[in-house]
Amino acid sequence: MKKRILTGITTTGIPHIGNYIGAIRPALKMASSSDESFFFLADYHSIIKNQNATEIGTSVESIALAWLSCGLDPDRSYFYRQSDVPEILELSWILNCITAKGLMNRAHAYKAASSLNTNDPDKGITMGLFSYPILMAADILMFDSTHVPVGSDQIQHLEMTRDIATRFNYLYSELLTIPEPIIQDNEKVVLGLDGRKMSKSYGNVIPLLDTEKKLKKSIMKIVTNSLEPGEPKDSSNCTVFDLYQNFAGEDSVKEFQTLYDEGISWGEAKEKLFDVINSELVPIRSKYEELSQNKEYINDLLSDGSKKARIIAKEKILKIREKIGINKIS
Ligand code: TRP
Repeated sequence: MKKRILTGITTTGIPHIGNYIGAIRPALKMASSSDESFFFLADYHSIIKNQNATEIGTSVESIALAWLSCGLDPDRSYFYRQSDVPEILELSWILNCITAKGLMNRAHAYKAASSLNTNDPDKGITMGLFSYPILMAADILMFDSTHVPVGSDQIQHLEMTRDIATRFNYLYSELLTIPEPIIQDNEKVVLGLDGRKMSKSYGNVIPLLDTEKKLKKSIMKIVTNSLEPGEPKDSSNCTVFDLYQNFAGEDSVKEFQTLYDEGISWGEAKEKLFDVINSELVPIRSKYEELSQNKEYINDLLSDGSKKARIIAKEKILKIREKIGINKIS
């Protein structure tokens, strides 16, 4: 059976180095070894948590540009916006009708939100948040995806997708492909400027698509201890060292360790970190600058991507409709 990988990118925020290390780079690497790959902008997922239209628009744009700049090849992969493939929403409703409410009650994201409430357990909880896993199942099952690369926080959603697909297949017929999750085994938390996990909500991110000058400025802000030059430095629990490892080869990391033992100054260590990150980002940045001059091209590219994806989606949804009895009167 063909290996078809699919992954969704929720369009919130502006891409940072943590997204690059944890999601973009490994997913693109995996795409190059798969028969077929699908990457899509999960814009209908993003409106669950964010009702600011301007922010959603900005985020869609910068995330699309980031993936393309980092090497996503739209000729070899399917690259589209979820909202441009309405069959996904249609499938989502169909799946809503066979999914037990009890299954959704167990979703971590929903439970976490309702556990914050004291009196009314439903305060601030929308149906979108509650049924989020069903929309995700539709994204995946629409295209008979065989493998879904996800972060460990998404494992439960994948299990739910498998449950929902199994139920559909049991009720109607074996029509949906049961997907396998691919959990990034080297998944390690990427540290941010203050040493906590790099995350937009902590305000500690190093942006991916900024100028060289801003990148440097950002790296110089990484919090370190106050050891003087000449004093040996500990590379464990060190944000600078940690980030360095994500960009340098084995030999360079060994050399960097020696420099730590010899008491490299924090200023120099950060310079070295900047060099190694920057050299990987130079081609990405120049592609980004080129693409951001040409928004029409990006729109056309996404529109072509959804046309390609819809050929598959339309065929599939017709088969599904037929199985559930939504078809021509004969
Ligand atoms: N929920 C995923 C996340 O937050 C994004 C996503 C939406 C997704 N649909 C998907 C991931 C389908 C994989 C497959 O990261």
